[in-house]
Amino acid sequence: MVSKNDLSDGIESVRSDFPIFKRRINGKRFAYLDSASTSQKPKQVIKAISDYYVNYNSNIHRGIYNIAEKSTSMYISSKEHIAKYINANSYNEIIYTRNTTESINLVALTLGNEYVNKEDHILITDLEHHSNIVPWQLLAKRKSAAVDYIKLDESKEHLDINSIKEQLEKDPKIVAISHASNVLGTVNDVKEITREAHKHGSIVIVDGAQAVSHMSVDVRDINCDFYAFSSHKMFGPSGIGVLYGKEELLENMGPLYGGGDMIHTVTHDTYSWNSLPWKFEAGTPNIEGAIGLNAAIDYIEQIGIQRIAKHNMALTAYLLEHLSKIDDITVYGPKNVDNRRIGVVSFDIKGLHPHDVAQVFDSEGIAIRAGHHCAMPLITESLNRSALSRISFNVYNNYVEIDRALKAIKKAKKLFKVK
Ligand SMILES: Cc1ncc(COP(=O)(O)O)c(C=O)c1O
Repeated sequence: MVSKNDLSDGIESVRSDFPIFKRRINGKRFAYLDSASTSQKPKQVIKAISDYYVNYNSNIHRGIYNIAEKSTSMYISSKEHIAKYINANSYNEIIYTRNTTESINLVALTLGNEYVNKEDHILITDLEHHSNIVPWQLLAKRKSAAVDYIKLDESKEHLDINSIKEQLEKDPKIVAISHASNVLGTVNDVKEITREAHKHGSIVIVDGAQAVSHMSVDVRDINCDFYAFSSHKMFGPSGIGVLYGKEELLENMGPLYGGGDMIHTVTHDTYSWNSLPWKFEAGTPNIEGAIGLNAAIDYIEQIGIQRIAKHNMALTAYLLEHLSKIDDITVYGPKNVDNRRIGVVSFDIKGLHPHDVAQVFDSEGIAIRAGHHCAMPLITESLNRSALSRISFNVYNNYVEIDRALKAIKKAKKLFKVK
C-alpha cells in the first residue's frame, strides 16, 4: 500500500515557481498531467529569457560591444553548463539544434549518409518515438539499407534480451535507442546495449528526450556516441535541443547546413569549416533558448535530480496502485516502480476511446495526453491498440491531482456507461 506520506521531501513547495498553476481551466484548478509532452516553465526560466530581451538582446559572435559580449558569453556558458550536466568532455561536444528530432536527423543526414551503404543494417527498437524511427527509415531508403527492430519481451514492458543479441549479430552500422519510452515509461539499459553494440562496431545514438528531466545522465558512463534531447521537456524553452557527440566523431562529420558562423573562411570558390561546435550551427542560433535552457538546468540542480526522480516515482507508485483497483483498466508498461521506469503511465479503459477520456479530464481542468503518442509502431503493432490515454508527472505534480484524475476516470466510465 502506497501512503501519501511517502512524499515528505518538501518538494511540493516548488509548485509555486510555476506561474501557470495560478490558472483555472473550466472553472477548476489547473492540473497538468502531460509533462512527457512538454514540461511547464518555472519563473526563473521565464525571467532569464525576459532579462535577455530587456537588457542585452544582441547577436552572438559578431559585435565588439558590451551587450554583444554579454550575450556571447551567456551562450557559451549555457553550453559549458550542459557539457557539465551530462558529463561531456567539453562544450565542443554540445551542438544546439531545434529539438531531439533535429538532433537525430542531423546524425542521420551527416554521419548516416557517409557511413551507411547498400544492404547495411540500422537497428532501432519497438518502443521508439517517430523521431527515432522516420529519420532512419529515410536514410535506409536513400541507401537501400534495412531498418531492424529489437522486439519487446512477452510482458511488453521491456526489450527482449534475446532479440537484442540476435539483431546485433547483423553488425548494424547504427544502433538508435531511446533511454526512456514516452509510452511505457520503460528505462532501457542503454549502457549495456552500447557496450554490446560497440563489440559489433556499431555507432550508438541515444534518444534522451524523456530521460533528461527524470534521471541523471552521464554520457561518458553510457559511452554512447551521440545523445539527443530537447530543452522543452526539462523546464526550458521550446525551439532548442541538444546533440551531444563524441568529439572525434563530430570532427570527422561534415556539417548539415551551410551559412554564417559555421565557416572559418570563404572565397568565391572555396570555404573551410569553423571548429567545433560552431561547424554545426549555421546562422543566428536560438540565443534566448540557450539562456533559458541554462536557467532550466540551474533550476534542476537547485532541486536535485535525485529528489525529482524520487518525487516522480512516489507519484507513479500511488497512481499505479490506485489504477489497479479500478475495473476495466489496462495499464501498459512496467508495474514495478524502480530505476527501470520513469513517471509516464499509459492506460486504456475498456469500451472508451482515449479522446473521450481526455475530454472528460479537460472538463475537470486536468490535461492528459490521448492518441498514438507519436509511437504508432509500438501502439498499433506491438500493443495492438489504436490509441492510449497517458498521465505523466514532473516536479510540480502532487497527490491531490492524482486523486482528481482517479475521480475523472470514474466520471468518464459513468458518463459513457462503462459499468
Ligand atoms: C522519446 C522521445 N523521443 C523524441 C521525442 C521528440 O522530441 P521533440 O518533439 O522535442 O523533438 C519525444 C517527444 O515526445 C519523445 O518522447
